Amino acid sequence: MNKVIIITGASSGIGKSIGNYLTEKGYIVYGTSRKPEKYPKSEFTLVKSDINKKSDTQNLINHVISIEGKIDVLINNAGIGYTGPIEESRIEDIESLFSTNFFGPIEMIKNTLPLMRKNNSGLIINITSIAGYIGLPFRGVFCASKSALEILTESLRAEIKDYGIKVVNVAPGDVKTDVISRRIDSFNDKNSIYFKKYYKTWKSMNKDVEEGGIDPLKISRLIFKIINKNNPKIHYVIGKPLQKFSIVLKKILPDLVFERILNRFNSL
Ligand SMILES: NC(=O)c1ccc[n+]([C@@H]2O[C@H](COP(=O)([O-])OP(=O)(O)OC[C@H]3O[C@@H](n4cnc5c(N)ncnc54)[C@H](OP(=O)(O)O)[C@@H]3O)[C@@H](O)[C@H]2O)c1
Repeated sequence: MNKVIIITGASSGIGKSIGNYLTEKGYIVYGTSRKPEKYPKSEFTLVKSDINKKSDTQNLINHVISIEGKIDVLINNAGIGYTGPIEESRIEDIESLFSTNFFGPIEMIKNTLPLMRKNNSGLIINITSIAGYIGLPFRGVFCASKSALEILTESLRAEIKDYGIKVVNVAPGDVKTDVISRRIDSFNDKNSIYFKKYYKTWKSMNKDVEEGGIDPLKISRLIFKIINKNNPKIHYVIGKPLQKFSIVLKKILPDLVFERILNRFNSL
């Protein structure tokens, strides 16, 4: 139980829930926040770190190694949401989203792997999204960032298979967290041809998270199980049955049939 765990983005939502759960189970947890001073009551150590800053990532890893001498589990959880029609999305918003959701996790992985390889052991868990399996309207940039991380994991597993390190993805559907407060909404043009459809989707997205989202504790329990598995799977999906089933439907239905169902579901 003296495993050392790093969780990025652990001041809120899923990361905080995982941190609390694993701390209660006896693990040594280091979480990150850009403003840890805002969370003095955190049940585990919160280190100041912005995943978009390379120096913060290096300092974080060095800090944990200098105290604990090892990192057993890295949970790449820090991430933000995104909405906006692709045609009207600001490119700087897209870059910012990819920086947090894709380049940041890669930087964490690159900095953690040398130590894990040396110890011939380690586990990396990337928190992705069910949205990474399906190109959802007005969320394309978010879907693409999570899809990219899913695929990267598959490549990484092959590259490091001889070094005793496991890498897995956990893809949640809607989870009841503060995700909306940090989300990039790259759109505000009420005269746009997209506005009506976008706004309708925006409202239903918010409702899905606030009223229909699952409890983050469910993800924490899954993470605990994964940490204790000898041979974890590559992809884990967790969420409401209909959201999980949509991935199965996409696999088995012809493209155009699935697209028609998705558009009808989104009233498009
Ligand atoms: N909630 C959902 O419905 C849902 C669904 C699918 C996937 N996910 C994924 O689950 C993960 C956690 O989301 P959540 O719902 O728990 O959101 P949340 O409540 O908004 O928490 C996000 C966490 O990420 C941290 N964070 C944001 N930007 C950061 C940055 N640049 N550097 C370091 N930390 C940063 C935040 O910390 P500070 O602000 O304190 O720095 C916070 O602790 C994300 O990757 C998200 O994409 C969420």
